Amino acid sequence: MNIRTVKTTAFDDQAPGTSGLRRRTRRFMQPGYLENFVQSIFDAMAPHERGTLVLGGDGRFHNLEAARVIVCMAAANGFSRVVVGKDALLSTPAASALIRALGADGGIVLSASHNPGGADADFGVKFNNASGAPAPAATTRRIEECSRRIDRYLVVDDPGIDLRRLATFRLGTTRVDVVDPVDGYEQLMQRCFDFDRLRRGFADGRLSVCFDAMHAVTGPYARRILEDTLGAAQGSVVNATPLPDFGGAHPDPNLAHAAALVRHMRTDDAPLLGAASDGDGDRNLLLGRGFFVGPSDSLAVLAAHARRIPQFAAGLTGVARSMPTSRAVGLVAAALEIPCFETPTGWKYFGNLLDAGSINLCGEESFGTGGDHVREKDGLWTVLAWLTLLEAANQPVDALVKDHWRRFGRHVYCRHDYEGLDADSARTMMSALVESLPALPGTRVEGRVIEGAGEFHYHDPVDGTDSGAEGVQVFLAGGERIVYRLSGTGTRGATLRVYLEQFRETRREVDALRANAPLGRVASTLAGIARFTGRRRPTLRT
Ligand code: G1P
Ligand code: ZN
Repeated sequence: MNIRTVKTTAFDDQAPGTSGLRRRTRRFMQPGYLENFVQSIFDAMAPHERGTLVLGGDGRFHNLEAARVIVCMAAANGFSRVVVGKDALLSTPAASALIRALGADGGIVLSASHNPGGADADFGVKFNNASGAPAPAATTRRIEECSRRIDRYLVVDDPGIDLRRLATFRLGTTRVDVVDPVDGYEQLMQRCFDFDRLRRGFADGRLSVCFDAMHAVTGPYARRILEDTLGAAQGSVVNATPLPDFGGAHPDPNLAHAAALVRHMRTDDAPLLGAASDGDGDRNLLLGRGFFVGPSDSLAVLAAHARRIPQFAAGLTGVARSMPTSRAVGLVAAALEIPCFETPTGWKYFGNLLDAGSINLCGEESFGTGGDHVREKDGLWTVLAWLTLLEAANQPVDALVKDHWRRFGRHVYCRHDYEGLDADSARTMMSALVESLPALPGTRVEGRVIEGAGEFHYHDPVDGTDSGAEGVQVFLAGGERIVYRLSGTGTRGATLRVYLEQFRETRREVDALRANAPLGRVASTLAGIARFTGRRRPTLRT
């Protein structure tokens, strides 16, 4: 086997964002771009960590080709073993599970999550550490430094590797195993939940589900687990074949992009639970009949009923939410007398808390929930958790959530996104907002009193790392909160996210989008969004 050292020059845009390196696919296809970043990941690892590497992706355009390159680079870099999902598929949570099950040194997931796929869409590379967690901030900083200094990468010639069938072969001294991407994950789910009980629920008709895989990676997982193993009706999983361009759609499970499922859940044929997952299978959307479960509420309800889930039978040790996520789960934690940690946006900040056992359930408003079984958010796991609650409570989805609101009160919550902004204008707006913060408390905006305002900083209690400013919070009288931050996952211009939250003790039914419209206008005025960006309205409300 001939290890080639290929000369290269650094690219100046390889700093990982909220979740790995995400760029336009054509940028990734540029000679050396993928190779530089992968070599930087390997260079950032200690030599003794080049044991076992897990590899897979969400099936998007360029997935298989990129995986072959990475196998050849791993062999050249002296890894003893590479374990790849068949067809180079692995959902993000399944990759995390596989890293943990094998005691691997890390893994690479090829995905741009919920961003569209295709030659003219997006591609991405994420690196997870030995505990299966997204590389923590200290590691991503090291990767970035390596990417700035890089002048060569190592690769062996591709002898015609076929990742489309199960096999074990050698590439020099490296053993390559092409494995079934679902097997290990399914075994893990069997340990987290009571499959017999769920099977009975489906058999006697108390449980029913429609799972929209959005032509992304969870199709094979959901088919196998929900239909084949648990006995949900054939056809319960729709759009189940992963496609390189996700069927031309946006594999983002929210009310806007999963509109067909939302419509179906309003019909007379609607099952008990409607669900969808994103490109790489870590996000989830949950719907009851004619009812939307907000992700922040989902986290709070799961926490409140955690003991019904076999994985949490011994109780929760603590919970965590990302800062912009609604504070609903905090009320549950207070009632359970367990800690509730508040972290910056991005799953990587939960990893240390999970490893330390400080928490075993966590979530983000961006349709992400997960437990301590892996170190990623987990879409299908969340669906199984909800099916477990619904079976145990013998209640429809809306009743379960409304009971929760009666008990704890309701955080009426939504997010306004201003997408495709001019990046400089967006940054100028944020800087001006930050500068205005000290003077805000005590002032009024559109009749509301501002009680406090500040940038969010996080000190990791486990490894002591301090993270920079991670968004701005404005607290208004009466428990309202506005959060502003710029997205760290986009590939074009900038996206401003404005998170709106108000607390209500009343039982009156409200539509969260409508109820937060006035607060959205306050947020826009306060930050001068129109003045700086030229946008009067958000492009997306979820
Ligand atoms: C978004 C979400 C964030 C999530 C990330 C990766 O990041 O807001 O919660 O962890 O995608 O799925 P953002 O684009 O806001 O930086
Ligand atoms: Zn994702």
